[in-house]
Amino acid sequence: MAHQTIIIVDFGGQYNQLIARRVRENNVYCEVVPYQKAMDTIREKKPAGVIFTGGPNSVYADGAPDIDKAVYDMGIPVLGICYGAQLMAQALGGKVERQTRQEFGNIEITALGGLIKKVVDKGVSWMSHNDQITEAPKGFTTTAESDWCPYAAIEDTSRNLYAVQFHPEVEHTPFGKEFLRAFLYEVCGCTGDWTTANFVEDAIATIKAEVGDGRVLCALSGGVDSTVCAVLVHRAIGDRLHCVFVDHGLMRKDEGDQVMETLGKAFKLNLTRVNAAERFLGKLAGVTDPEQKRKIIGHEFIDVFVDETKKLGQMDYLLQGTIYPDIIESGLGDAALIKSHHNVGGLPEKLGFKLLEPLRLLFKDEVRRVGTELGIPDHLVNRQPFPGPGLAVRCLGEVTEDKLFILRESDAILREEIAAAGLDREIWQYFTVLPNLRSVGVMGDERTYAHAVGIRAVTSTDAMTSDWARIPYDVLARISTRIVGEVPGVNRILMDCTTKPPSTIEWE
Ligand code: XMP
Repeated sequence: MAHQTIIIVDFGGQYNQLIARRVRENNVYCEVVPYQKAMDTIREKKPAGVIFTGGPNSVYADGAPDIDKAVYDMGIPVLGICYGAQLMAQALGGKVERQTRQEFGNIEITALGGLIKKVVDKGVSWMSHNDQITEAPKGFTTTAESDWCPYAAIEDTSRNLYAVQFHPEVEHTPFGKEFLRAFLYEVCGCTGDWTTANFVEDAIATIKAEVGDGRVLCALSGGVDSTVCAVLVHRAIGDRLHCVFVDHGLMRKDEGDQVMETLGKAFKLNLTRVNAAERFLGKLAGVTDPEQKRKIIGHEFIDVFVDETKKLGQMDYLLQGTIYPDIIESGLGDAALIKSHHNVGGLPEKLGFKLLEPLRLLFKDEVRRVGTELGIPDHLVNRQPFPGPGLAVRCLGEVTEDKLFILRESDAILREEIAAAGLDREIWQYFTVLPNLRSVGVMGDERTYAHAVGIRAVTSTDAMTSDWARIPYDVLARISTRIVGEVPGVNRILMDCTTKPPSTIEWE
């Protein structure tokens, strides 16, 4: 089914992804396109509307990002945001100038009429600009102003052109969501045809058409993206999908069994588990350097996977769980656009397969919703991120079976208690680490010399930055008592209360 599309023209703004998220939240499909390729895409896709992002440049600077003026005469509604607004104004004969007084942060604006007046009279908006429109182009009406910005919003309804100096996409503009919705539904005539059910139906048809009679190989990790990918492709081509789950022995407690139980048994995927724990631990013996540990695991993974693949006969495609932020972050549309995910990085070249990336246009929350639509249980769909090298990056120093045992057991207790306290959806990631540090304690009147276990729990929206989660003291007390009481070899619990940056989420 063809769906309506909004093209977001990226002029280098820091909020390009956020605009796309907001559009999708309104059940409207959109794509972010770099400004250099925008006109070709617009001509090809004939979108319902176009949105220009902000950007760091001045519209009058040499080589400033620009777009062919023809875009304003195509009869397609355009909304320019910040730099995008200034670009539109300048292109159509208005004036843009640097102001001595710049506006940053929460700025109150007053709506004077037009589209914006439908959603707000007076409201706080997020502004962040050095330049601003100082003269609107002919045909435009001023629809909002602030103390220092006489053209906070302008529009020309006869040509369906809209320009706003503020950022409607950020949370700090409380009426922003409604404003974008009004643009999408009232100006662009969107009907909200981008739904999870539609996506699944479309994706299955596309996969069938693309793969034909071919066979598809999938490196299944049990993570959200690879799980959703596999179940989706299985719906499309059934047993011609072969999944290989490399169990490197660095998974959390019972995780490998759960993957087999749910995906192998319940979903009946054609799934092979390779028990390679000994192979991995053998290679890791005596290694303490964090980067070296990661490299060994990455290489070993590829070797094990390739060995297993040879047994499966001819394969045509490699299924990869690439998602839209990977594509946007790796520079939009250029080159091969394969983010080197830890585990599958290097595989496509090594195996010479064609790539199948059915989730490449979805954001993470959309992937989760697709998972739910496909009937994948909640614990897998909402699984917290887990690094490819597994517990090895949480086990400082040499990775040994004894240390992994402590990590697995303590982590299982932490997860149980966080879930029991109802905090599991609030906290982005929570796990235990083993700092490879022993200290003296006393248990049952006897001296102990045992491991300290660290608790790492963070809140985040994208893992790029994070804060430490304020777990209530009574929950921490229960976790601490249970771990020292139930996990042999532990006599002390530490709490990691550092943000990222300067720390990272994982310890290695
Ligand atoms: P850091 O430790 O860099 O982690 O703050 C950011 C996020 O990425 C996860 N992470 C990984 N995920 N392969 C992955 O698939 C890896 O090698 C890897 N290393 C870290 C980490 O858990 C956090 O969510």
